[in-house]
Amino acid sequence: MSTCRQVAARMVAPGKGVLAADESIGTMSARLTTAGVEPTPENRRAYREMLAATPGLADGVSGIIFCDETLHQRFADGRPFADAVRALGILPGIKVDAGAKACPGLPGEKITEGLDGLVERLAGYAELGAAFAKWRAVITITDELPTAAGIRANAHALARYAAACQEAGIVPIVEPEVLMDGTHSLRRCAEVTARVHAAVVAELAALSVDPAGIVLKPNMVIEGADHPERSAPEQVAEATVDVLSALPTDLAGVAFLSGGQPPERATANLAAMQVHRTPWPVTFSFGRALVDPALAAWAGDPARVADGQAALAERVAANAAAVRRRAELQPA
Ligand code: 13P
Repeated sequence: MSTCRQVAARMVAPGKGVLAADESIGTMSARLTTAGVEPTPENRRAYREMLAATPGLADGVSGIIFCDETLHQRFADGRPFADAVRALGILPGIKVDAGAKACPGLPGEKITEGLDGLVERLAGYAELGAAFAKWRAVITITDELPTAAGIRANAHALARYAAACQEAGIVPIVEPEVLMDGTHSLRRCAEVTARVHAAVVAELAALSVDPAGIVLKPNMVIEGADHPERSAPEQVAEATVDVLSALPTDLAGVAFLSGGQPPERATANLAAMQVHRTPWPVTFSFGRALVDPALAAWAGDPARVADGQAALAERVAANAAAVRRRAELQPA
């Protein structure tokens, strides 16, 4: 089995998911400021070490996604982040996209940048110990959007990235995120997500990306944040699994983003997915739904590291328990 297949299988191993702690410097700084913490490189480092060093984290977390800054930083004891988390039994990952920018020619739509020089950067990240990577494409829903051209451009970039990762021996997390922003219905999210997945699958195949050596990180199929109603977990799960049923059966696994859902809702939706039979594991790769409570509890105070870690451990345990339901509900 190829290295990518082995690593991808480990990322979605039973009862485990991926922790997304890869906010860009700008996003992380804004979140620290909101939490009352000065947004310095040292505070961003201390925050990521607090998360990664959570006792027992490897019980529910197979990998942590970092950003470039963190991968060049060290734990307080001097070990580089990648080495320190590997020693804890956790795979280090790296966000390699350069962010979603306004797409020329497509008003209101975004294209994720970062392909130029990617092959060289991936070689550098492999040297630093990265086992996997992440690239996030964002798709906005309005009455008119997304356009077919916007979907195609983003799907193509995801495939270029994924092919480059596999050639570098790094597992690509392929993240086409249909945003929750807006008033759209769950049905409309389902329709758009299905179109996006179809385009991504076609572009991946065109560049000979091995599905068994990637982890797909989709949005759940869910109504817009400003929609007047809230779907029940069973409705979200059914609609999501229905859309995902068009994916290749040999995909290593699916690991959802949380997309701004409250932590408990994301967990309940993930738990409800496990009732459905899928050819691949369905787990979490949450950012905010895992780390928001931890950031609030830590608040930059060295005396409250244990509080932040307890808050993260609680969310990880809840999500790991949710995905462990699969083994109970669907004995092999
Ligand atoms: P959220 O779970 O906060 O959506 O973040 C996941 C992620 O990695 C976004 O790129």
